[in-house]
Amino acid sequence: MAGKSATVTVNDKSVELPVRSGSIGPEVVDIGTLYKQTGQFTYDPGFTSTASCESKITYIDGDEGILLHRGFPIEQLAEQGDFLEVCYLLLYGELPTKTQKIDFDHRVTHHTMVHEQMSRFFTGFRRDAHPMAVMCGCVGALSAFYHDSTDITDPHQRMVASLRMIAKMPTLAAMAYKYHIGQPFVYPKNDLDYASNFLHMCFAVPCEEYKVNPVLARAMDRIFILHADHEQNASTSTVRLAGSSGANPFACIAAGIACLWGPAHGGANEAALNMLAEIGTVDRIPEYVAKAKDKNDPFRLMGFGHRVYKNYDPRAKIMQKTTHEVLAELGHKDDPLLQVAMELERIALTDPYFIEKKLYPNIDFYSGITLKALGFPTTMFTVLFALARTVGWIAQWNEMIEDPEQRIGRPRQLYVGEPKRDYVPVSKR
Ligand code: SDX
Repeated sequence: MAGKSATVTVNDKSVELPVRSGSIGPEVVDIGTLYKQTGQFTYDPGFTSTASCESKITYIDGDEGILLHRGFPIEQLAEQGDFLEVCYLLLYGELPTKTQKIDFDHRVTHHTMVHEQMSRFFTGFRRDAHPMAVMCGCVGALSAFYHDSTDITDPHQRMVASLRMIAKMPTLAAMAYKYHIGQPFVYPKNDLDYASNFLHMCFAVPCEEYKVNPVLARAMDRIFILHADHEQNASTSTVRLAGSSGANPFACIAAGIACLWGPAHGGANEAALNMLAEIGTVDRIPEYVAKAKDKNDPFRLMGFGHRVYKNYDPRAKIMQKTTHEVLAELGHKDDPLLQVAMELERIALTDPYFIEKKLYPNIDFYSGITLKALGFPTTMFTVLFALARTVGWIAQWNEMIEDPEQRIGRPRQLYVGEPKRDYVPVSKR
């Protein structure tokens, strides 16, 4: 039976393009043969109306503020699951049985150490290097250590590389933090869960026993869950594009880290906290809201707005709840930054400009306050985002490699430069 199609008419020539339906969400017009049939490209900088792939991993409904991972709502996963369970779900497509979960946790735990030579990489950086610069370098360098898991055509090697990335990112992130503050590295401990192990590697010192606060560890684990994957965002698309050339998984993840660093993307949590600190007090909020609305002022409210969510980011609501839990546990519930954030959110959600442009707080708006309360400097915020997003990048990378439709990504362009012209000798210029 002929499927649905769309008719495109260009210069009096009409072509039929197949329309494909997913399980939920918008249909797509398959334009793969458009250029061949019409000699025309489509044009969509920023890919606001372009689907780059088929995927079963994450579904977002921006108008309804819905986020599903393999069909499970983020609210349920964040409340009832743990991060490694979400990692298993993203990688394998189903929630693990008890036995599968025990095995997966054991496999991840026993990949948390990095090659001892890795510690020498850090000594090449200045102590005040931004930890994201360190992470770009060190994660890319993993390619130089794990030659036995870079054959992307071997599903076993792909899964080993996937587990290594998930397991080693906390260790490398903690090493980047310790190096940044001039403290000795702390090795992972196999008797700690994923989030507790990370907090221990960051905040333990050789001089005394460090007891992880279980409330803070649970909050850290939930923050990892909220940042795990998010459909075809900029950094995930970067990982997919890098992987489409056959590059090894460590190099692809390093490319994703580089893209995430931007303040319009994963760097927004650092930028949002710096913005709240710059505003400083509630009475200065109107001045900054006016700047954000001024077309001639490049200032934007960091932590607000989203390409897809034109409703409240469901992660932001859970993040806000976690923020209150952490601040209450630490006795900071009157944190002035939180007061500024709450008042800024109230004003923005009632201001006609933000309502008309559907600008709601996104996940980055509250995460910074929480991470600061947990003891991290702002320079580490995007590193934590990258740590959590690694599983999403890896799951999407595996899906891309296994997708028979995927080939090397190679967009075209609308050329607006000079037509052909002849060389002019310098004596005649
Ligand atoms: C993440 O893609 C993902 O899924 C990303 C992410 C993930 O999990 O991977 O969700 C994580 O990156 C969240 C977003 C974090 N970034 C920020 O908080 C930075 C501030 N936000 C903006 O830079 C912006 O909202 C973006 C980048 C998030 C979205 O940009 P778009 O979709 O390209 O929208 P736009 O820039 O075209 O803005 C639409 C309008 C514009 O006004 P007009 O030109 O139409 O008049 O809204 C305005 C913008 O000026 N606008 C803002 C604003 N964000 C958009 N005005 C003031 N403050 C803001 N924050």
